[in-house]
Amino acid sequence: MNDQDVLPTIIQGGMGVAVSGWELARAVCQTGELGVVSGTALDVVCARRLMSGDPGGHMRRALAAFPIPAMALRVMKQYYIHGGKADDEAFRAVPRFTVTPPSALQELTVVGAFCEVWLAKQAHSGPVGINFLRKIEIPLPFGLLGAMLAGVDYVLIGAGNPAEIPAMIRTLARGEDLDFGIRAQGLRSEDAPVTVRCSPSELLGEAGRDLPVPRFLAIIASVDLAAGLAGDPSTRPFGFIVEGPSAGGHNAPPRGPRRVDDLGQPVYDERDSIDLAALATVGLPFWLAGAYGTPEGLAQARAFGAQGVQVGTAFAYSQESGLADSLKRQVLADVLAGTLDVRSDWRASPTGFPFRVIQLEGTVSEPEIAAGRKAVCDLGALRTPYKKANGDIDYRCPAEPLAVYTRKGGRAENAEGRRCLCNALLAAADFPQQRPDGSTEPPIVTSGDDFRAVLALASNGSGGGPYPARKVVDYLRAGLAPV
Ligand SMILES: Cc1cc2nc3c(=O)[nH]c(=O)nc-3n(C[C@H](O)[C@H](O)[C@H](O)COP(=O)(O)O)c2cc1C
Repeated sequence: MNDQDVLPTIIQGGMGVAVSGWELARAVCQTGELGVVSGTALDVVCARRLMSGDPGGHMRRALAAFPIPAMALRVMKQYYIHGGKADDEAFRAVPRFTVTPPSALQELTVVGAFCEVWLAKQAHSGPVGINFLRKIEIPLPFGLLGAMLAGVDYVLIGAGNPAEIPAMIRTLARGEDLDFGIRAQGLRSEDAPVTVRCSPSELLGEAGRDLPVPRFLAIIASVDLAAGLAGDPSTRPFGFIVEGPSAGGHNAPPRGPRRVDDLGQPVYDERDSIDLAALATVGLPFWLAGAYGTPEGLAQARAFGAQGVQVGTAFAYSQESGLADSLKRQVLADVLAGTLDVRSDWRASPTGFPFRVIQLEGTVSEPEIAAGRKAVCDLGALRTPYKKANGDIDYRCPAEPLAVYTRKGGRAENAEGRRCLCNALLAAADFPQQRPDGSTEPPIVTSGDDFRAVLALASNGSGGGPYPARKVVDYLRAGLAPV
């Protein structure tokens, strides 16, 4: 049996944007567990790494390994700045995705995903995963293709029904053209479908043929969805990540009628708990996520029949995570002082999904900071396609400037409380955009709400600062000890 056949006990969950970058994923893989890079906005992440001067030369090493040197060179020429841009200089714009993305953007996305996975695969022989959000549809086939070109072993996708993904993976692996159907608001069943075309042969030529097929793990929050996906060979994943509502990032909304507490947080009850015994009868391997990141959580998950656990929060504050160091330290100080405040915000994310946010000074969790930010939509990863009155497809996001959003038919009530997660998450990953008025995009920090592991790890030997990712793995593995 080789490393690829052994199923991991611990999966370090995908954390976007760039929180689970290649350095974190590689560190976890080096322990023999599964490290997962975030696949979100890798076009922008790749471009901004290059514009930051590519400290350490890692991106340039990965680009040198890209099988089509001319394409890697085009990306370098477009974005690389020797020595990095000045701190007060703006990052050059990356075009926003539409259903007809320019070839330079397709290339950047393929190259960005390739580099992230290639770097995560260095210095060990174990498998590497990549995580995408099903909701961010248009870049998905290009990111997937780049990751597969680098030999990614696992693809993990949630935030929406991932039924089409297994077929998409197989089509791309064969090097066949893919016309991926995109959901567009206002589109009726009699309208022509909206699709984005991804052509491995046009993009990669011979290099895009016969790519290895990665294992697909569907991130789900309901047994019905799991059973439905498993019941049909065309949608059947390799396994499942079962994510509960306390996980970081986006969460599934509560089932049934909308329920909120005094702070506007979604209220979950027994209707939202997953029947693990029923899930086990589906017969595919599964991992539990969301407050399972402790030795007890791992032991409990194994007792439920899970292969193991997927953990995010504990890894987010490790040394190797891509979260800006100052934010890690700010959060860890609050954790140690017992003052940390994490809220599930049903308004913040333009996607409409509940999104967990740490209340932190200097971030857009503070109403004054959010209000002081001039609305601008220049990254557009969370824009939704919609059909205009004349039949054309346009794109809108409730966090874009209100006048623009309402002109496009968006409802003003829907824009209330929305935050530009694209800019704020890139700022949190230490790639903040500089604005012409001299301001810097403020960050947002998303997190799970179970900090037991973080407290234990930060109080124990790291002097209250970030700790090595391998310590998270060691800490969790104590849950495998026989009792
Ligand atoms: C900072 C952060 C960002 C996250 N971003 C994503 C994401 O982009 N995609 C995703 O599927 N899950 C995301 N998650 C969820 C994790 O992959 C994982 O399932 C979850 O954190 C597990 O729960 P835990 O935080 O209690 O360990 C994120 C979690 C955190 C803490």
